[in-house]
Amino acid sequence: MKIIYNIGLLVGIQPEGVLRVEGEAQGRTGVINDAWLAIEDGRIADYGTGSVEGDLDAHGGMLMPGFCDSHTHVVYAGSRDGEFLDKINGLSYEEIAARGGGILNSSDLLNQTSEEELYRQSLVRVQEMMAKGTVAMEIKSGYGLCPEGEMKMLRVIRHIGENVPATVKSTFLGAHAVGRGYSHEQYVQAVIDMIPQAAEYADFIDVFCDEGFFTVEDTDRILSAARHLLTPKIHANELAVSGGVQVGVKHLALSVDHLERTTDAEISALKDSWTMPTMLPGSSFFLGLPYGRAKDFIRAGLGVALASDYNPGSSPCGDMRFVMAQGCIKMRLTPVEAFNAVTLNSAYAMGVSADYGSITRGKKAALILTEPDWDLTRLAYQYQTPFIRQVLL
Ligand code: NIG
Ligand code: FE
Repeated sequence: MKIIYNIGLLVGIQPEGVLRVEGEAQGRTGVINDAWLAIEDGRIADYGTGSVEGDLDAHGGMLMPGFCDSHTHVVYAGSRDGEFLDKINGLSYEEIAARGGGILNSSDLLNQTSEEELYRQSLVRVQEMMAKGTVAMEIKSGYGLCPEGEMKMLRVIRHIGENVPATVKSTFLGAHAVGRGYSHEQYVQAVIDMIPQAAEYADFIDVFCDEGFFTVEDTDRILSAARHLLTPKIHANELAVSGGVQVGVKHLALSVDHLERTTDAEISALKDSWTMPTMLPGSSFFLGLPYGRAKDFIRAGLGVALASDYNPGSSPCGDMRFVMAQGCIKMRLTPVEAFNAVTLNSAYAMGVSADYGSITRGKKAALILTEPDWDLTRLAYQYQTPFIRQVLL
């Protein structure tokens, strides 16, 4: 048993059994001032208020659950900084992709890179994320775009998960773009053929269901082939109102992600589903897209998760504190709504909220201890000031 004492503010307390927060509940979280917290076997054993003797002096800092990042593409090779000038000069994401840049550029780089080197490059990013407080993350394939490349990525994701203290969930995103040398139709079939092998490594399956990438019909076929093997998490409505939300809900997707473009029909489709709408403000920021209508979703009684989308093309940043701040500044979430979006709801969106995302007895003690005098409002408001004293993993 290890006791953290002298905690100025313990935030993120939830009763046992709360796996996500929706509607008004997204704006609430349990808080205790002058607290202590006991850890046993890596899990939260108990917590309370008052001064006690202990092992780790929190020096009056805030103790909060670590960030959960349910949507990343951090396994990639090289960089796409060569496209950055095109972007600055006004080319859109679609125009860069149409010129042979974009995802296919990363795919070429990945297929030229050895598995060991890919692991080495990706691990650096994962370590950066953990240093910034991320304790659980999802990582997608999707830059192989052929059976060898996709399985190489899934092996690297597994290898990372085995070697870092953070929890890593793995998603097979074969349907990220049409691989070189395939027709669209051939590639959709190739993705379907990869599913059984991918299911040996991955937890989830994803499809980039959007204009210029994969259609609702492609998505329906791929998800039907994956039924009972891989739970869906879908890229939807980034570039257009794609129908991806509805096809995701139909296939019991755990999350539908991006949602920069949505109408009320998407909100209705998500009501009473088990699917978590997940928004990625980092890609809105980087690509100059609209921010998701998180507030409307919450007003409609839904929960919302926020994730980083860390990837070389649309969000080269895995800083979940910045994601939280954007939730407040750009999406008008309250600090508590944004905090729940980057912890409990994001944990739910990758199936780990029984273990992560809140201060709850029995959950993993995967925590961020801040410097003194921080609270959730200041975390989002003063969004670049260093705040972490220690990440406990
Ligand atoms: O989530 N939208 C599709 N996939 C990624 C971008 C991947 C890339 O450009 O490399 C995204 O934004
Ligand atoms: Fe993505």
